[in-house]
Amino acid sequence: MLKLDNVHLAYGPITAVRSASIEVRDGEVVAIVGGNGAGKSTLLKGIAGLMPVQSGKIAFDGNDITQVPPHLRVSRGLALSPEGRQVFSDQSVYDNLSLGAYFRGLSKAQLDDEIEKQFDLFPRLRERRNQLSVTLSGGEQQMLAIARALMSKPKLLLLDEPSLGLAPKIIQEIFAIIVSLRKAGITILLVEQMANMALAIADRAYVLETGNVTMSGTGQQLLHDPKVRAAYLGVTHNAA
Ligand SMILES: Nc1ncnc2c1ncn2[C@@H]1O[C@H](COP(=O)(O)OP(=O)(O)OP(=O)(O)O)[C@@H](O)[C@H]1O
Ligand SMILES: [Mg+2]
Repeated sequence: MLKLDNVHLAYGPITAVRSASIEVRDGEVVAIVGGNGAGKSTLLKGIAGLMPVQSGKIAFDGNDITQVPPHLRVSRGLALSPEGRQVFSDQSVYDNLSLGAYFRGLSKAQLDDEIEKQFDLFPRLRERRNQLSVTLSGGEQQMLAIARALMSKPKLLLLDEPSLGLAPKIIQEIFAIIVSLRKAGITILLVEQMANMALAIADRAYVLETGNVTMSGTGQQLLHDPKVRAAYLGVTHNAA
């Protein structure tokens, strides 16, 4: 479904992602783990078209999208739930969700129907439909960010750090939703610092270190890899 071939991404003179070649297949949850500043968000921005690719190629659904502008990537089925949520804080939950579907040209009834589906997935948002997003808790804002991305009806959902700053119970809820989205047929590329949780649900995963993909494997392989455990799972010795 998604194939990156030697993709380079840079901020002016600073290279943030070097020769990244990664693949996401239909129906998979693929995780990208790595420390602060490794280039994870940059990689997702490149895939979403929010920054230009310096060299290399990105193919989605068999088509080269390297030069396709971001809004057209959304309409082809690629949606990003960005790091830090970035919901429109002075707009209501309902309006944020409507904006997620703006290009689909839905009637009011169709739009309400789609929003109801998001409320089924995230019941907390239903109770808060007319509330300004700025007044939501961090976990609710994260749910809204994911729901807004889903309003574009993506084939591939890019999730950047959905657990960031949230309490363990809410993180578990979010991960349960990610698993249920995969069951519903949505393919997911998940960037996470919670490497243990991401690898536990991932079909496959990549490790990104200072802009380089250094390891790849199934989620389980990386979860049990001594180097990954030492670097990202806080296990320093005698890994069981
Ligand atoms: N707007 C920017 N301008 C210049 N450099 C940037 C910009 N955004 C990120 N960088 C640099 O690019 C590198 C990769 O950053 P990126 O945000 O992709 O990392 P990350 O893996 O998402 O980190 P984190 O886990 O902290 O979110 C870092 O060295 C960072 O300082
Ligand atoms: Mg990031």
